[in-house]
Amino acid sequence: MPVRLILAFLLLCGIVAANGCSKDPADNNTDETNLYTDAAMYQEISNGSFYYYQSDTATLTAAGNSPHGAFKLLFNQEAKNALGTDGKLAVGDTFPAGSIVLKDVIRNGTTRFYAAMWKQPASSNTNEDWLWYEANLDGSLLESITTKGSGCIGCHRANANRDFINSFDLH
Ligand code: HEC
Repeated sequence: MPVRLILAFLLLCGIVAANGCSKDPADNNTDETNLYTDAAMYQEISNGSFYYYQSDTATLTAAGNSPHGAFKLLFNQEAKNALGTDGKLAVGDTFPAGSIVLKDVIRNGTTRFYAAMWKQPASSNTNEDWLWYEANLDGSLLESITTKGSGCIGCHRANANRDFINSFDLH
């Protein structure tokens, strides 16, 4: 084999090996977690279809130790599928991956900001398998998912038996 051909062959082997390396499982994991960003969360909330809690569009009054104020409670399709005929998650049950529980926080009759929980166990930012998020209607952040619910979980842990959702016992 001419020397030049051998060199070309070795070079080709090197390229294949390098490409092989960049496709190892560690990189795939990084891609997985990067799917769940504040921007993706905002997309889901602002473009997705949501269903009102117990099919009631009325504004609910904050209860218990809620800091959020008056609100409407909504569920995406995945979350809705897990609810019983009473519109609540059964005690001891959990929501499937992809579920979003969304709070439209209402002031003077209109939505002022969003508070939301997104079930994404594969993300590195979860706390109790949920991503915790708050944003204004234009998507500007009030609470990034990267804070891992540090300002949220304290209160929501009170309802660990209903997958950290407080409303089912209060409303
Ligand atoms: C001081 C306690 C407290 C803190 C802190 C808190 N929450 Fe809540 N949250 C509540 C209560 C109580 C409810 C039940 C509904 C109501 O009456 O407001 C609620 C309801 C919700 C809901 C609707 C689903 C449910 O659990 O009923 C979402 C979504 C939510 N909170 C997100 C958040 C996020 C995100 C944070 C952190 C940025 C947060 N909450 C911080 C007490 C709290």
